[in-house]
Amino acid sequence: MAAMPKQVRIVEVGPRDGLQNEKAEVPTKVKLELIGRLADAGLTAIEATAFVSPKWIPQMADHTEVLEGIKRRPGVSYPVLTPNLKGFQAALAAGAKEVAVFGAASESFSKKNINCSIAESLERFRPVADAARAAGVKVRGYISCVLGCPYEGEIAPSKVAEVAQALHDMGCYEVSLGDTIGTGTPGRTKAMIEACAERVPIERLAGHYHDTYGQALANIYASLEMGVATFDSSVAGLGGCPYAKGASGNVATEDVVYMLNGLGIDTGIDLGRLVATGQWICGVIGKEPQSKAGKAIAAKQAA
Ligand code: HMG
Ligand code: MG
Repeated sequence: MAAMPKQVRIVEVGPRDGLQNEKAEVPTKVKLELIGRLADAGLTAIEATAFVSPKWIPQMADHTEVLEGIKRRPGVSYPVLTPNLKGFQAALAAGAKEVAVFGAASESFSKKNINCSIAESLERFRPVADAARAAGVKVRGYISCVLGCPYEGEIAPSKVAEVAQALHDMGCYEVSLGDTIGTGTPGRTKAMIEACAERVPIERLAGHYHDTYGQALANIYASLEMGVATFDSSVAGLGGCPYAKGASGNVATEDVVYMLNGLGIDTGIDLGRLVATGQWICGVIGKEPQSKAGKAIAAKQAA
């Protein structure tokens, strides 16, 4: 077991992973205010939007307006999803300084989500990585279905490791491991990370756990014990995945920060402001916040 990290980097994915799944149309102005409030709460990586096809994900159709509208703060990055060169070029024109390509460890999910096989997806990502390098833009890589697939069931850790290595080799500075449907448990999470860490340095791996089965915090704890120090999360637990029926949102950022505070692990995030942001966005979009810590803290403040 590795020593627990002293510091953890949180990548806030609420404005993208959270809002991509909202049925109601969220105005661009609200998205921009959410991004601003998250930065006020101390988040330094805020995934802002996705340069994907509006036919596939209409919720992200305002990607250009969102990225161009952000009042950028020093020290904060605003990565955006780019599935192909077309998306990358549009993101670059709108001012992207960091992008993310997103593949899968499951063939069926890859087909449903990005309409191509895993091998084809890697061929599409390579020119994105090359163009990004030439433009001085950082590239992150995502892998979906690392612990289970809605169409294929369990996924072998060796398959995840293979895709992780391919993404790392093409220049992704970090590979985010997505438990898209939240079926993973801590033992399987450790086995999957162990397999990936044989091919990609552990400091280049991040955990992206959805909380559908209530396992996300346990999986984060297991990952911390392995030495993983970057986690993706979503304010108020917003979200899900349009191509994974029944998937809930990511683990709530408030819950992760509460746990890390208790462990004495620094995130640089102001939990009070974060809770207020979760309450605010849920009020605006008419949704019940999914963070237990957030709800408890808000109730205590109201009492
Ligand atoms: P396709 O239909 O195979 O693409 O879609 P195509 O190249 O055949 O083009 C078809 C049309 O799409 C053309 O337009 C293209 O111009 C357009 P038309 O001629 O028909 O008018 N097009 C685009 N438009 C805007 N932006 C683009 C773009 N590319 C082509 N970048 C494609 C392939 C990848 C585009 C499509 O499948 C897509 O947009 N998929 C996105 C799915 C998605 O966003 N899923 C959610 C994010 S992933 C996720 O949530 C998981 C994660 O959180 C980790 C985890 O939890 O597991 C990251
Ligand atoms: Mg996700």
